[in-house]
Amino acid sequence: SNNKRSTEVAAPISTVPYELADIDWDNLGFAITPTDYMYIMKCSEGQSFTKGELQRFGNIELSPSAGVLNYGQGLFEGLKAYRKHDGSILLFRPEENALRLMMGAERMCMPSPTIEQFVDAVKATVLANKRWIPPPGKGSLYIRPLLMGSGAVLGLAPAPEYTFLIYVSPVGNYFKEGIAPIHLVVETEVHRATPGGTGGVKTIGNYASVLKAQTLAKARGFTDVLYLDCVSKKYLEEVSSCNVFVVKGNTISTPTIKGTILPGITRKSIIDVAQSQGFQVEERLVAVDELLDADEVFCTGTAVVISPVGSITYRDERVSYRNSGIGVVSQQLYSALTGLQMGLMEDTMDWIVE
Ligand code: COI
Repeated sequence: SNNKRSTEVAAPISTVPYELADIDWDNLGFAITPTDYMYIMKCSEGQSFTKGELQRFGNIELSPSAGVLNYGQGLFEGLKAYRKHDGSILLFRPEENALRLMMGAERMCMPSPTIEQFVDAVKATVLANKRWIPPPGKGSLYIRPLLMGSGAVLGLAPAPEYTFLIYVSPVGNYFKEGIAPIHLVVETEVHRATPGGTGGVKTIGNYASVLKAQTLAKARGFTDVLYLDCVSKKYLEEVSSCNVFVVKGNTISTPTIKGTILPGITRKSIIDVAQSQGFQVEERLVAVDELLDADEVFCTGTAVVISPVGSITYRDERVSYRNSGIGVVSQQLYSALTGLQMGLMEDTMDWIVE
C-alpha cells in the first residue's frame, strides 16, 4: 500500500474505542467516499450568514443560471481532521482556512461566514461524520468547505444568493506515487495566474484552468506541473495543487506571496517549523535556474502534506535530486508537521483544535 507513511503502529481495528465505517481503511487514496452528513448555510446578497444546518450528504439543487455555474463565482477550502488512538479528533489551524476564505470572498464579491461560524460548522460536520475519520496512521478526514454564488443571474453580476457548504471524505495519499518522490515538468507556455488576477485566492477557476497542462504532463509521464510567473517566465510560482520549496544547504526558499501564489497553510506552517529547526527560510523570488543546483525540492499542501520531488524537467532537460530518494529535509519536516497534526508531539505552536 502507498498509504503507510506514519511511523506509528495502528491498533487492531476490532479493539479501538470508537465506531468506524465499514470500508477498507488500508487502501485510501485521494478520492471521494460519500459520507453521512454535509453542512449547508445560505444568505442573500448584502446580508450575512446567520444559521446553517447539517443535512444528509447528497446532491444539491441549483438553478441552471446560478452564478457559480455560469460565471465561476466560487471558492473552496481544504483542511483535515486526524484521529488519535484515544479516539479524540484533531483539526489543524482551522481559523487559518476561515481567514483565507474571508479574503477570497472579498475578492470574489461574496459574503463569507465569520471565523467562528466557519470553525463551528467544520466541527459540527466532522463530529456528524466521525465514523469516517480513519484510524491513526491510515489517513485523515479531508474537509472541503465551498462558498458559491448559488442565486440565479443572467447578466454578469454578483449572484443574489450565496451558499456555504461543507462535505468530508476519508483520504490517504494525494499522489499515486504515495510517499515516493514526484516528477514535475516546468510549464513555459501556460500560466496559472496573472498580476491583478485571482491566483492568490482559492477560487475554483484557478484549478479548472490548469487541467489541460496537467493532463498533457501526465500523458508524458510526469506527476504534475510547476508553473512560472507570466511576466518574466523566470520565477517559480507553484504546482497545480501545492506550493513549492527549494533546499540548498541550510537554506530553504519558497516563492513569496504576491497575489499570484496561493497562500498555503501548510506552506506557512512549514516555514515556521523549518525556522524552529534552525533552517534559514527565505520567502523571495526563486528563479527557475535555482532548480539546477538545488539539493532537494519538495511540495506542500493540505492534500499533499509534504511531497518530495524526485526530478524536474525544464525545456527538455531533466534534473534529478540526489537527496530525493531519502528526502532528508522534507522527511524531517514531514515528521515534525504530521507529528503535530496527529497529536504525537506536543503542540508548542498552539495550532491544534481538539
Ligand atoms: C488542498 O491541498 O487541500 C487543496 O485544496 C488542493 C486541491 C487541488 C486538492
